Amino acid sequence: MTDSTVEQPVPVEAPASAAGKAVVRAKPQAAVVALPAGAADHRMEPGGDADAGANPQARRIAMINQKGGVGKTTTTVNIGAALARMGHRVLLVDMDPQAHLTLHLGLHPEELELSAYELMTDVTVTAGQVVRAVSDNLWVLPASVDLAGVEAELAPKMITGQAQRILAKKLAIQDGAGAATNARPFDHIFIDCPPSLGLLAINAMTLANEVIIPMQAHFLALQGVSQLLETVSLVRQSFNDQLRVSGIVLCMHEKQTLLAGEVLADIETFLREAHGTNLPWAGARVYQPAIRRNIKLAECPSFGQTVFDYAPDCRGAADYMNLAKSIAIPTP
Ligand SMILES: Nc1ncnc2c1ncn2[C@@H]1O[C@H](COP(=O)(O)OP(=O)(O)O)[C@@H](O)[C@H]1O
Ligand SMILES: [Mg+2]
Repeated sequence: MTDSTVEQPVPVEAPASAAGKAVVRAKPQAAVVALPAGAADHRMEPGGDADAGANPQARRIAMINQKGGVGKTTTTVNIGAALARMGHRVLLVDMDPQAHLTLHLGLHPEELELSAYELMTDVTVTAGQVVRAVSDNLWVLPASVDLAGVEAELAPKMITGQAQRILAKKLAIQDGAGAATNARPFDHIFIDCPPSLGLLAINAMTLANEVIIPMQAHFLALQGVSQLLETVSLVRQSFNDQLRVSGIVLCMHEKQTLLAGEVLADIETFLREAHGTNLPWAGARVYQPAIRRNIKLAECPSFGQTVFDYAPDCRGAADYMNLAKSIAIPTP
């Protein structure tokens, strides 16, 4: 997993001290997952009965952690699939040039005619042309490696703030048009973010009304989370006053270890201290259950399947189903 980053100033309006900390992905990784022939047979053509306009009332959740390999994509795919099985209409947005979410759902990024990149850089491309149905109640807005070029393409528009809001505009969140054009809007939109805090993550946070932080209870994890929270605060001040952090998901959790217990205690103290403040994470909680390490969760992406299709009886499927139930109840 690449974590290499380039220091780069971001959005206007951000205080200089914090803006200097935001970073941009340096290099996209090539897609590495080999898909068996026929893995994507369940694909359907774009459009379908899901108009890609988004309901402004939908829960729009950015799944963010600037560290790679912590479980963002696994969590996005499997919470989305669990909620879809529970009857919610779910859109998964792949905002990572590595396109792991797209691959995990059985799509081949290099074969896509249109992806999130075209959506964000070509004014004539609409979300309805890019979104694809995956299975009952589940849709994806796929990514390709081209998405890495968004940072450069949109750079000139950063000064006006347009570049930071382009995804929200394309999904018709800002002007409420989504509700008017979509008879059956999505209930949940999850955005899988790249391991950086650049323009793609900022677009995700501008579209979102919630942030969920998937993380591993490792040494220095909390330090990374503080940096992320600073960025959330900046985005809230500059672009999206609705944005709040609703919670943390513990991934690949080994609760019997001393370290995991200590890190969890630190997180809980940190969140408790924010209660009653107007910080964006004042209402955040650690979601239950933590997701245990489970080999089936690591295997299912290479079959282009969610864990519920690949190994519905494994404990990874049980953990994600229970987690989806607790996430389905919004934090007050
Ligand atoms: N609970 C888990 N148990 C075992 N392996 C997991 C688990 N969650 C994620 N993984 C594996 O860990 C790696 C990183 O997870 P991923 O979701 O891709 O992280 P990120 O999106 O944050 O980079 C992947 O190979 C994934 O299959
Ligand atoms: Mg990922």
